[in-house]
Amino acid sequence: MIEFDQPIDRQNTDSIRWDRYDKDVIPLWVADMDFRSPACVIEALRKRVEHGIFGYTHEPKELKEKIVDYVYLQFNWKISEDWIVFIPSVVSGLYSAASQYAKKDDHILVPRPVYHHLRWAPQKAERDFSEVELICENNRIYINESTLQDRKEKNTRLFMFCNPHNPGGTVYSKKELEAIANFCIKNNILICSDEIHAGMVLDDKKHIPIASISSEISKKTITLMSLNKTFNFPGVGTAWAISENKELRDSIRQGVGTIIPETQIFGYTSTLAALDEGEAWRKNLLQYLKKNRKLVQEKMTTIKGLNLYTIEASYLAWISYEKSQYKDLSKLFVDHGVAVQPGSMFNEDKHFRLNFATQSNILEEALVRIQRALKN
Ligand SMILES: Cc1ncc(COP(=O)(O)O)c(C=O)c1O
Repeated sequence: MIEFDQPIDRQNTDSIRWDRYDKDVIPLWVADMDFRSPACVIEALRKRVEHGIFGYTHEPKELKEKIVDYVYLQFNWKISEDWIVFIPSVVSGLYSAASQYAKKDDHILVPRPVYHHLRWAPQKAERDFSEVELICENNRIYINESTLQDRKEKNTRLFMFCNPHNPGGTVYSKKELEAIANFCIKNNILICSDEIHAGMVLDDKKHIPIASISSEISKKTITLMSLNKTFNFPGVGTAWAISENKELRDSIRQGVGTIIPETQIFGYTSTLAALDEGEAWRKNLLQYLKKNRKLVQEKMTTIKGLNLYTIEASYLAWISYEKSQYKDLSKLFVDHGVAVQPGSMFNEDKHFRLNFATQSNILEEALVRIQRALKN
């Protein structure tokens, strides 16, 4: 745990998260962590750098086999090596899915609120889409088949799914996934399932890939995964797509190697090292994130007008201020020394997202500032 408490100076490292605001503003907006990647990753990268030659690189030959084992061990999902294709990032997969799986006059379903690229991908592809509002029950937000049904059109062809959900960190149960899968099967809808946060489930719940629910849904789904988030190397990482369906696999790589670059050396190196030796670090990370989640929960419940939704995974607290008179809290917070991600990024007003993956003492200070901003 001590390693996560160690302050790391990220000033002057060209960090998007740390460079946008003044030095004295605590940046809790963009989703990367203030923790060094595991020593095994740093060591593997160091060795690779010391070799000194950074030529064109293909994937390490054992990488697919290791992903097969990882997916089975972590998520109890049996896949085969030929179901895996590498893509440089999950985001590139989202954009390919929207343009490849939905034709010009097809319609796409997108959750709301959601990580902005799931919504921007259909927009960019100029596909018609509808936003499916997550429902809130006992403070937990999720999508179900009836909300999907309400927004479905005759020509709906694709559902952009996010599980665990960003923002907020909902982890879907087997029953919920079965209902969504059945809805998609019945209506002949493909699923693009962004599961990048799957390695950071915080409690006893298990992440279940929707494609693992049945062989029928497996053939209709492309699953996007990566270790970028869990091991904190989105600046050098890579991603992979999994599908039993060859057509879906082939088309997700549309443009890769031409207008989209292939995965680079360090992406393979860091991913392989994390798969090989990162598990103990990941477990410690989860403990630390749970501790920080508790700090956020404790503080948020004392502040009138704020409502924190249930966090089941990852490090992105989703907070509503619909019950307050404030119009734009994120701006007010910056004036008081904390930067959060405004809800508008996820197409939801009067909300903000707070990244709690930082040293606990920094988080505590940020929470005090938030409280002060609201008292003033
Ligand atoms: C749901 C989700 N998908 C994708 C990404 C980005 O993935 P990548 O860096 O692999 O493009 C993020 C980053 O925050 C995310 O939260």
